[in-house]
Amino acid sequence: MRHILIDTDTGSDDAVALVMALNNSKISIEAITIVAGNIPVEQGLQNALYTVDLCNKKTPVYLGEGKPLKRPLRTSEFFHGQDGLGDIGLDLKGRKATEGNAIDIIIEKVYQLGNNLEIVALGPLTNLAIAIKRDPRIISKIKNCFIMGGTAFGPGNITPFSEFNFWVDPEAAEIVLQSGMKITMIDWDATKKYAWFDSKTIKSINKINTPLSKFSMDIQNNPKKYKKKKYGNETIELADPLAMAIALDPSIVMESKKYNVKINLSNEEHRGENILNEKGKKNTTIILKASRKKFLDIFKKSLT
Ligand code: BDR
Ligand code: CA
Repeated sequence: MRHILIDTDTGSDDAVALVMALNNSKISIEAITIVAGNIPVEQGLQNALYTVDLCNKKTPVYLGEGKPLKRPLRTSEFFHGQDGLGDIGLDLKGRKATEGNAIDIIIEKVYQLGNNLEIVALGPLTNLAIAIKRDPRIISKIKNCFIMGGTAFGPGNITPFSEFNFWVDPEAAEIVLQSGMKITMIDWDATKKYAWFDSKTIKSINKINTPLSKFSMDIQNNPKKYKKKKYGNETIELADPLAMAIALDPSIVMESKKYNVKINLSNEEHRGENILNEKGKKNTTIILKASRKKFLDIFKKSLT
């Protein structure tokens, strides 16, 4: 049995990734830790707790950091909706976090699981960066760290240079990437290539017709509206589900390469940009090719 901790800023694609993991009987989800990103951390907490309830699970959910290491928090309600889950009227209030703090829990779980904990990070890397600063001994004990973030070759989604998660807390991203941890980065390029949902794909998911398939597509209401207004079509990209699918089944990856990856921290216009080098310590595996079919199969299966 694999042991996974999910760190998330529970927006509309994070919630779908949570469903995929919560509905997978082959893994044990040790904890869900919440970080500020798409929405303030308290809202992310409510969204994760709602999703856990919807999946009829009792997975513990812990509150984490409310702001990036060195910068003011920049959220993305314009995309995910005011409540982060598409503003479709879900009851996203009043649920309670498990007692404890996300950073303490990350450290505790690493020791408890003796080199067997894997982390899937779906938001800004603030919680993880603080955890490894506080106790660097955990770095070599984390078995795998799958990160949704960055953009290796193409343009970003929040600026022409940067992807949202790395842009929100670039200092945290730099700490995690330079830590020496075993990292697989599932970036915005891979998302654009393999995790797009056009109207035909969305229709095929709606056909599954279960509460989970309905939830996963209904909460894309706001992203779809945003895309339609800005680009004239409703094709959305679901970044976090691709990262989760690769964590759950690494055989989706058909080609990957290790690079030395740094984060641009000095130039505000290029804030959070990935600087790739084929020389130097290769700290990050980047996905070059993946199977869209396998991704969609895993995605759809998790909604039944
Ligand atoms: C990432 O940023 C957020 O908007 C999504 O939840 C995803 O984690 C995509 O850039
Ligand atoms: Ca996210």
